[in-house]
Amino acid sequence: MATSHLPSNSIALLFISFFVLMLCMEYAEAEAEAETRHYTFNIHYHNVTRLCGTRTILSVNRRFPGPRLVAREGDRVIVKVVNHIANNVSIHWYEILGLQLQYFRHGIRQLTTGWSDGPSYVTQCPIQTNQTYIYNFTITGQRGTLLWHAHISWLRATIYGPIIILPRRNESYPFQKPHKEVTIMLGEWFNVDPEAIISQALQTGGGPNVSDAYTINGLPGLLYNCSFKDTYKLKVKPGKTYLLRLINAALNDELFFAIANHTLTVVEGDAIYAKPFETDKLLITPGQTTNVLLKTMPEFPKASFLMAAGPYFTGQGTFDNSTTVGILEYQHPLGHKTHSKNLTLIRPSLPPINSTSFVANFTMKFRSLASANVPKTVDKKFFFTVGLGTSPCPENTSCQGPNNSSKFSASINNVSFTLPSVAILQAYYYGQSNGVYTTDLPAQPLSPFNYTGTPPNNTNVINGTRTVVLAFNTSVEVVLQDTSILGAESHPLHLHGFNFFVVGQGFGNFDLNNDPAKFNLVDPMERNTVGVPSGGWLAIRFFADNPGVWLMHCHLDVHTSWGLKMAWIVLDGPAPNQKLQPPPSDLPQC
Ligand code: C2O
Repeated sequence: MATSHLPSNSIALLFISFFVLMLCMEYAEAEAEAETRHYTFNIHYHNVTRLCGTRTILSVNRRFPGPRLVAREGDRVIVKVVNHIANNVSIHWYEILGLQLQYFRHGIRQLTTGWSDGPSYVTQCPIQTNQTYIYNFTITGQRGTLLWHAHISWLRATIYGPIIILPRRNESYPFQKPHKEVTIMLGEWFNVDPEAIISQALQTGGGPNVSDAYTINGLPGLLYNCSFKDTYKLKVKPGKTYLLRLINAALNDELFFAIANHTLTVVEGDAIYAKPFETDKLLITPGQTTNVLLKTMPEFPKASFLMAAGPYFTGQGTFDNSTTVGILEYQHPLGHKTHSKNLTLIRPSLPPINSTSFVANFTMKFRSLASANVPKTVDKKFFFTVGLGTSPCPENTSCQGPNNSSKFSASINNVSFTLPSVAILQAYYYGQSNGVYTTDLPAQPLSPFNYTGTPPNNTNVINGTRTVVLAFNTSVEVVLQDTSILGAESHPLHLHGFNFFVVGQGFGNFDLNNDPAKFNLVDPMERNTVGVPSGGWLAIRFFADNPGVWLMHCHLDVHTSWGLKMAWIVLDGPAPNQKLQPPPSDLPQC
């Protein structure tokens, strides 16, 4: 279960340098030197019991959820990932596909290490059985909470964990120092192997089966069968402030979250400080992180409080309509054993499942704390429709998609993105794009329609590995327009390689003449994942200052699987530190 370790020879070194260290302490403090943190992630099979049954899952270091990755801003992080998944006929696709880790990096100044980004067939080939790949990156311009997860097929269902980035040693939080910090990871549990679910769905063309439970730190909580003991408990003291690091690692569901009788103060989103605001309920999409301050009641309350998470959903398909809960338990001031059985349990209310207005209001409350370095002028504008569509059913087969005669698909500007069989970044670096990808993703829809009105008769998508090429440091604006094809739905769009600024959002169709005037260019929130409103639009801006190939996709895995993704290719800049570095020698081969 090794998570962080010192290289063995450094232990000896530690003794030798002890006195030197004492003498240099002050100097070192002043310099606040960055550290290198080593982690080893061994991917194994692992039996886990939840909801009255035991299932074999894939996990990191036999832990579910996976280990925490902790670093300070400025540190270098080296994660050695070893794939131990052995050859096994019944699960042979694992052997072919292997595994990989994705971490989020959005450092604005730390450039050119795209080989460590992670998405399979985009920045690397999968790590094969018994192979190792070392992810090596420096954390720049971020402090807060992020997550790491597998980035191939649906393996992230169980292969995920928190990334905790503390401020530099000599820096403090821009808010009251918390008494304690706690990670709260929301996830989704499936009673059957999620790989079987998605592979069957892609074959039949129908919607995939939904999860059986949501989880808090891997535990479904007492509202589910056989789960009384599998309930997360947070023990707190009265009159203290706790920092909760909330992460949504669920596969396919945006989640509401609340703690009964407690107000939360949001202070950060996606590892960027926000102007603090109070709320008693919040929404967190898959891929997002939100840090909140929880002020506990001044006196021992003689009650326990549930924290709960449940779905936000506006689409037409089925979804997991259950609720996960954990318990917020106050420690008795005199150290008396509190008999939690005798205490009343108070349950919070969550917004109704389809509360799009709550979600829109909540999203708009996020504002960057620091004056944002937002692009004021734009070199390249894109208008991307995002939503569902169909693919024809192969002849002489029956399909379970829309009208039982087609397959579900999803697209950006009607192009459903197909992953190639080699990594795009490698093909780009070696100038071998032929047969791997094209650079003709349209900047606007080729046939405009009333995006949020009655859908067009023909909803078929086109397939391709179509990318967009950007010159180094282009300032980019993307308007993401939801469509009502097969139902308007919120799409949590995630951009790799950059943070973007959320400059505008609204309902209905984006109005090119009137909406840009309302953009917030003063203090827009900077993030890496944001929901495109159901039946609405969202405008983001970013500087393409990170050379490489960067995936942008809906973080609902079902939509990603259906093709709701695209890739930006950012060319090298003139200076040496603006060029993509050569690939590491252990880069996996396809
Ligand atoms: Cu968490 Cu490609 O994403």
